[in-house]
Amino acid sequence: MNAINFSLKTLTLFLIFLQIRAIILPCDFSFDKKYGYTCRVGDINITKSHVKIKRIGGNHEEERKLFNRTDTDVLRVIMFNRTINFLPVNITHYFPYLRTLQVKKCGLQRLTRAPDLRFTLRRMYFGFNEIKNIPEKYFWHFCRLETLSLHGNQISNIPRMAFRDLISLKRLSLNNNHLKSIDSVLFTNCLNLEYVDLENNSLQYIESKLFSNQPRLNKLLMRNNQIGAIESGFLSRLKYNETGFNALLGGNRCIDNFTFPRDGNYEDLYRLFVNNCSPPQARVESTTPKTTAKPKKKPKYRTPDMIFFENCTWNIHKDYAHHFKHGF
Ligand SMILES: *[C@@H]1O[C@H](CO)[C@@H](O)[C@H](O)[C@H]1NC(C)=O
Ligand SMILES: *[C@@H]1O[C@H](CO)[C@@H](O)[C@H](O)[C@H]1NC(C)=O
Ligand SMILES: *[C@@H]1O[C@H](CO)[C@@H](O)[C@H](O)[C@H]1NC(C)=O
Ligand SMILES: *[C@@H]1O[C@H](CO)[C@@H](O)[C@H](O)[C@H]1NC(C)=O
Ligand SMILES: *[C@@H]1O[C@H](CO)[C@@H](O)[C@H](O)[C@H]1NC(C)=O
Ligand SMILES: *[C@@H]1O[C@H](CO)[C@@H](O)[C@H](O)[C@H]1NC(C)=O
Ligand SMILES: *[C@@H]1O[C@H](CO)[C@@H](O)[C@H](O)[C@H]1NC(C)=O
Ligand SMILES: *[C@@H]1O[C@H](CO)[C@@H](O)[C@H](O)[C@H]1NC(C)=O
Repeated sequence: MNAINFSLKTLTLFLIFLQIRAIILPCDFSFDKKYGYTCRVGDINITKSHVKIKRIGGNHEEERKLFNRTDTDVLRVIMFNRTINFLPVNITHYFPYLRTLQVKKCGLQRLTRAPDLRFTLRRMYFGFNEIKNIPEKYFWHFCRLETLSLHGNQISNIPRMAFRDLISLKRLSLNNNHLKSIDSVLFTNCLNLEYVDLENNSLQYIESKLFSNQPRLNKLLMRNNQIGAIESGFLSRLKYNETGFNALLGGNRCIDNFTFPRDGNYEDLYRLFVNNCSPPQARVESTTPKTTAKPKKKPKYRTPDMIFFENCTWNIHKDYAHHFKHGF
């Protein structure tokens, strides 16, 4: 009997606990030509994790008169200049067709799981928050995501498989973080990347395979890092079109004011590294630190094993289709 009482008590406490963490999300609804029906989140402070939404505040009256819209019509949620340290966990229950999620200047601290976002989300703007880590599996299955902004956070490391499924990603902003290095495997599957901003980090060297799988990349910003060494082969496999390819590399340890030339002359890149350093600091030949141990045979570059969400459709460059075991 006591045991039952005890469990009942625990259950009650647990329910109260849940209750405390259920909020009403205040929304100002409006329509935007580009992004669709939008909820702009009003005055709210979420400082605890695992907060649930019990209902959506605000009303659809203005829009309803004209278009009869409801919560499920919402395609975009904007949280700007609020205190949202953690995203409410069941947001997609109310906005199941969300395509754009912006949480900007909200002090967001952690990327907490919101699994259903994976299937619908096209744009994720999480700039100017306090995110320190990207959990390895957080972006798995986000195969429709086209824009990802994480600039102005405190990210110092990205797990090598973190972007495994970002097959539709076109624009990525990671500028103004604390990145020291980027694994060359990270972007292997991001075949549609066009724009990558890595400015104002602490990158120290660039491996040759980085961006070797990105035929559409046409803007790469890497100014204001501490790059002092580039492995030979970097950028050598990128294709150029008539608008030219731009890699901005100024403000690094040995590169100054350098825009990658349109014709892709890599000798220039090396010379710039060496010539601008006095005394020369750039290690052009190789980025592997010298060791006394026997030099290991360089591992042959291998595409990582990839598993993709079964119901995604991708638009993959034909030259790279052979990388994918499933889905074709
Ligand atoms: C949220 O926090 C801000 C700043 O501390 C405060 O002005 C505002 O009243 C709070 N809002 C709510 C709904 O508690
Ligand atoms: C949160 O979402 C779930 C579905 O995930 C829903 O059933 C529930 O009513 C929502 N609110 C709360 C407080 O759990
Ligand atoms: C608005 O939508 C609801 C549910 O979709 C429907 O039942 C209702 O008849 C609609 N009202 C108008 C005025 O179209
Ligand atoms: C952000 O909110 C604060 C009050 O919480 C206000 O003073 C400030 O002007 C707001 N900033 C912007 C850019 O809206
Ligand atoms: C680079 O980062 C520093 C320190 O966070 C900041 O003060 C500066 O404004 C940033 N520069 C740019 C161009 O964003
Ligand atoms: C060249 O790249 C630019 C920038 O992405 C793009 O707008 C343009 O359509 C491309 N041209 C061709 C012929 O692919
Ligand atoms: C960098 O380029 C800008 C514009 O092209 C020029 O004004 C500036 O003097 C250059 N700085 C250096 C250090 O060469
Ligand atoms: C994938 O699509 C099939 C058929 O449309 C469906 O039965 C299945 O549940 C979907 N799988 C997931 C994980 O959504």
